[in-house]
Amino acid sequence: MKILVTGGTGYIGSHTVLELLEAGMEVAVVDNLCNSSEESLKRVEQITGKKAVFYPVDIRDEDGMRDVFLKEQPYAVIHFAGLKAVGESVEIPLKYYDNNIGGTLTLLHIMKEVGCKNIVFSSSATVYGNPASVPIREDFPTSATNPYGRTKLMIENILRDLYRSDDSWNIILLRYFNPIGAHESGMIGEDPAGIPNNLLPYVAKVAVGKLEKVHVFGNDYNTPDGTGVRDYIHVVDLAKGHIKAIEKIVKTEEAENGKAGALGLKVYNLGTGNGYSVLDIVAAFSKACGKELPYVIDPRRAGDIDMCYADPALAKEELGWSAEYDLDRMCADTWRWQSRNPDGYATK
Ligand code: NAD
Ligand code: WQD
Repeated sequence: MKILVTGGTGYIGSHTVLELLEAGMEVAVVDNLCNSSEESLKRVEQITGKKAVFYPVDIRDEDGMRDVFLKEQPYAVIHFAGLKAVGESVEIPLKYYDNNIGGTLTLLHIMKEVGCKNIVFSSSATVYGNPASVPIREDFPTSATNPYGRTKLMIENILRDLYRSDDSWNIILLRYFNPIGAHESGMIGEDPAGIPNNLLPYVAKVAVGKLEKVHVFGNDYNTPDGTGVRDYIHVVDLAKGHIKAIEKIVKTEEAENGKAGALGLKVYNLGTGNGYSVLDIVAAFSKACGKELPYVIDPRRAGDIDMCYADPALAKEELGWSAEYDLDRMCADTWRWQSRNPDGYATK
């Protein structure tokens, strides 16, 4: 069975390609390398001894995408390709709408044209906006507070409309909470360009001596220690959730004698169900790297919420998936990747 992975050289994509190959699937990757390096796939090949076919194509390139689909004839698409920096999306919204919405529309046009109607989409906990309570269930109201979040919500709605118009599609929306960690080999991991926006890559760069101290954005939130609480999930657990999603489509179709669209449209949270504060993270990472990490308390970051963590029960019940790795393991694996690759994939 062949799976086409858009954005497959990126952080979550490369870990998912690895798990797909380990599960015995064939993999084709499409990525324009705007936020990643092909080196990630070379390392996946070194780890697994198996190779994914790589196409350096932009998902907005209709002819290029058609060629890939006609050549590869994938059973399903896992769609990671997109821009994801919240702050940047506020500065340059048109680029985000063009890339994320335009790219997804082109992808869906081609999928429809060639008759590939199985898709797993990378959505985000950001679609819950500022939730009224935690843990967050899939049936909570959705909203978005920035252009990035709006692209995720719009794509979810585009996929719902597509399904309403043609029920031979199988569509799974996976809403990720906060992915961190790296493959245990220490050979692939998150490699953000410039100064990281997200907490874990920032903390990791402080630990490796590339940044001076952690800036804690606010300690006056309505949380146990006053700092923001999130549901951090190991990227390998997250990657495995995608394998379960593909297997769910296959098994449901098999159970219904190959009926196209047997599964329909489903939404699942991928989180652990545990919330950790910023100070919990600084402490856990200090333990992992064996030194106390310096931090200062800064003002709140605009748009941040106090608490966000998942109710992951539905994914457990319907996909047979739950997260296995704890916070110490997430920090240990991040540290192994960061300390062995202080300059990410550019490390000599
Ligand atoms: P990433 O930037 O590492 O990976 C995204 C990949 O998509 C990159 O390799 C990039 O080069 C590629 N890409 C972007 N636009 C493209 C285009 N037009 N054509 C072809 N390739 C393109 O990010 P990630 O953290 O691996 O995130 C993967 C997906 O998961 C994204 O859609 C993101 O919005 C979503 N997501 C991420 C998080 C997170 O915190 N990392 C949380 C929730 C959802
Ligand atoms: C986590 C906590 C910050 C940096 C973002 C996106 C979301 C999703 C995941 C894609 C918060 C605090 C952070 C720092 C800090 N991405 N923090 N110092 O904001 O929960 O989610 O990534 O879909 O859409 O919004 O993640 O890692 O930026 O922040 O104190 O230098 O760490 O205030 O409480 P966030 P994050």
